[in-house]
Amino acid sequence: MRVSGLRILALIFAMVTMWIFIRSFGSFNMKTVRLPRWLGSVTKQTPVVKNKCGLSKPCPGNFFAFKICSGAANVVGPSMCFENHMIMSPVKNNVGRGLNIALVNGSTGMVHRQSSFDMYSGDTKFLVRFLREIPDGTLVLVASYDDPGTKMNAEIRTLLSNLGSSYAKQVGFRDSWVFLGARDLKSKSPFEQYLKNNPDTNKYEGWPELLELEGCVPRRAF
Ligand SMILES: *[C@@H]1O[C@H](CO)[C@@H](O)[C@H](O)[C@H]1NC(C)=O
Repeated sequence: MRVSGLRILALIFAMVTMWIFIRSFGSFNMKTVRLPRWLGSVTKQTPVVKNKCGLSKPCPGNFFAFKICSGAANVVGPSMCFENHMIMSPVKNNVGRGLNIALVNGSTGMVHRQSSFDMYSGDTKFLVRFLREIPDGTLVLVASYDDPGTKMNAEIRTLLSNLGSSYAKQVGFRDSWVFLGARDLKSKSPFEQYLKNNPDTNKYEGWPELLELEGCVPRRAF
């Protein structure tokens, strides 16, 4: 009891002192006085500078920041962030099982088109047309969800390989796959991750772990 009484006295003393201090420095801005700080109960907070798309490091000037996450099993949908703009996500309610693909103008960074394609029971001719119509200078972001492979035919695999994918040839039933390529890419894209559906190594019962791909892609062609 005595100790807490002393504490209250000390607190009142501190408050009175502070009040006198504020009064005697009329220009002192009340807003800058934070109660917890002079009570010593909260450590000083440094402002958090968040990079675009939550990247651990900022991208250089002439680069776009991106982060692509595949879906988790058949439960949580994939997401795609580009220059701090969430293009596709479960919250935006514009993702679907199969392949989720977004087209971004490689010089402006503006979203051109986005769509999801059911690769389990869907009609592949929509995806073939979508991939054939990608204009030059377009960045292509791809994220798998649940099953990206069952309906993937040879033509789709070739079209995706031509965008710089190394794994499009082997993507199969319930594999995890994330990829960023471009229409006029002459070599293989460095931005790709792939995990095969394998009962021995799967993180979830029928699916491998979800994949996260983030980085900085140069403006225009790379
Ligand atoms: C990208 O944007 C630029 C500037 O608006 C435009 O000239 C170009 O045609 C666009 N490219 C594509 C592939 O849409």
